[in-house]
Amino acid sequence: MDVDRDPLWYKDAIVYETHVKAFADGNGDGVGDFTGLVGKLDYLEALGITCLWLLPFFPSPLRDDGYDVADYRGVHPAYGTLEDFRRLLAEAHRRGIAVLVELVLNHTSDRHPWFQRARRAPPGSPERDYYVWSADDRKYAGTRIIFTDTERSNWTWDEEAGAFYWHRFFSHQPDLNFDNPRVRAELLDVLRFWAGMGVDGFRLDAVPYLVEREGTSCENLPETHAVLRELRAALDREFPGRMLLAEANQWPWDVRPYFGDGDECHMAFHFPLMPRVFMALRLEDAAPIVDILRRTPAIPEACQWGLFLRNHDELTLEMVSEEERDYMVLAYARDPRARLNVGIRRRLAPLVDNARRRVELLNSLLFSMPGTPTVYYGDEIGMGDDVLRPDRDGVRTPMQWSGAPSAGFSAAPPEALYSAPITDPVYGCAAVNVEAQLRDPSSLLRWMQNLIRLRKQFRVFGRGSLEFVSGTNRRILAYVRRWGEDTVLCVANLSRHMQPSALDLQAFAGRVPVEMLGYTEFPRIERGPWPVSLGGYGFAWFELRAPAAARTG
Ligand code: BGC
Repeated sequence: MDVDRDPLWYKDAIVYETHVKAFADGNGDGVGDFTGLVGKLDYLEALGITCLWLLPFFPSPLRDDGYDVADYRGVHPAYGTLEDFRRLLAEAHRRGIAVLVELVLNHTSDRHPWFQRARRAPPGSPERDYYVWSADDRKYAGTRIIFTDTERSNWTWDEEAGAFYWHRFFSHQPDLNFDNPRVRAELLDVLRFWAGMGVDGFRLDAVPYLVEREGTSCENLPETHAVLRELRAALDREFPGRMLLAEANQWPWDVRPYFGDGDECHMAFHFPLMPRVFMALRLEDAAPIVDILRRTPAIPEACQWGLFLRNHDELTLEMVSEEERDYMVLAYARDPRARLNVGIRRRLAPLVDNARRRVELLNSLLFSMPGTPTVYYGDEIGMGDDVLRPDRDGVRTPMQWSGAPSAGFSAAPPEALYSAPITDPVYGCAAVNVEAQLRDPSSLLRWMQNLIRLRKQFRVFGRGSLEFVSGTNRRILAYVRRWGEDTVLCVANLSRHMQPSALDLQAFAGRVPVEMLGYTEFPRIERGPWPVSLGGYGFAWFELRAPAAARTG
């Protein structure tokens, strides 16, 4: 990834998301650390990823796994030191891997010195004003609660301050007050601190909630967008080429403003697409995917959607209708223990009953739809989860490097790890691990390496336009990606059974489809419908070669 020379590097990136604590333990204390992570960069390079997204690694009481930041400028001692982080940056960059870190803007931990100072400072003082206070808990009554399983209100009483403070997440995470220019200046300095060290991008956590206004939902407000423009302008001025990625779990038309006129975030996750991919698979019908992408507005040239199948949180069902939510729960979380807040806390493989073909199909969509794909650590080997663990801990278990008792993650015994490795007979580290899959040419890991290699050869996937192709069978999703001379047709069979379709490819008459994994030429596209058949959960990517360019014989 040539971050320095190509300002649009994030468009071609393959992102890999991991938690330092969960990846590899270098010092044998049972917790993953930067030393361990550096030791695994060769693995990531071989996998083919080009951007490493690290979940929060800052000093924190870890009541929300680090999203409760107590010091924005340090490294949690369990993970190493700032020096270790610098080494990781240098080693990642040496391998052409960009590093993306979290900027948790919206809130801090209640242990943060700013909050400790605020609660003691006199009401109305600039120090008190770092956070959002109220004498009663009826202000901003139109605001929804996000962590519905644990929180009853967005206000919590603080004895010391003698006032309520505002929080959109856990009650130990007071929201910062972005109306206070000092707060904005502080966060900008935090960004400078990490960008100055060489960090390539920032995921802006929980970004829709920065500013509150009476009579609104306190989400996506114009004032929040003004904050982002300020941040972006400074980044462009001082650190051109670095990237901002918005975490805005909202409808596409509400996310669209986070790109601004190309003057807010470079990227934003496409949250509503993700559950619809799973829905389409279960319904064996392309409609949910086509529908949400048709309703997704165009974005500025330099901007990009962030795509994912799973991440460190529950599979959120906030951006679906009530009916769709009921369907998703029925289809994917019959076991009530798999549910959390408004979502499902499961990894990719268990969501699809460990069916290899379905995992491959979903990845084929992730890697060919318009946007930059993110792979959640462990999903490249089909790791499982544990719904019996609290909160989202069941999808944050140690990376499974080998079949050893501590999964090759640590030299410490299993009982000394920050979290026990998964050990069940299907997904446990004895059955699912990197070492075995590297030795097995037909493993999921090998397949992922191959798919990533292919994707990287064609910039059309990261940069091209999207056109849906109509066909005679709703179970087959077909779309064309185009960028310059490159034209790629993607087809995916969402059904468990073999399916035929006849695609309307008239616009490409005369072209010869060449299947991209095997370089096999398919029958030339004529004026009439183009017939295609795919096995159960099959998919194919075809380069549509102009007649002269197609190979003959
Ligand atoms: C993160 C969660 C976290 C929450 C509060 C989210 O957007 O992805 O893991 O709990 O922000 O910081």
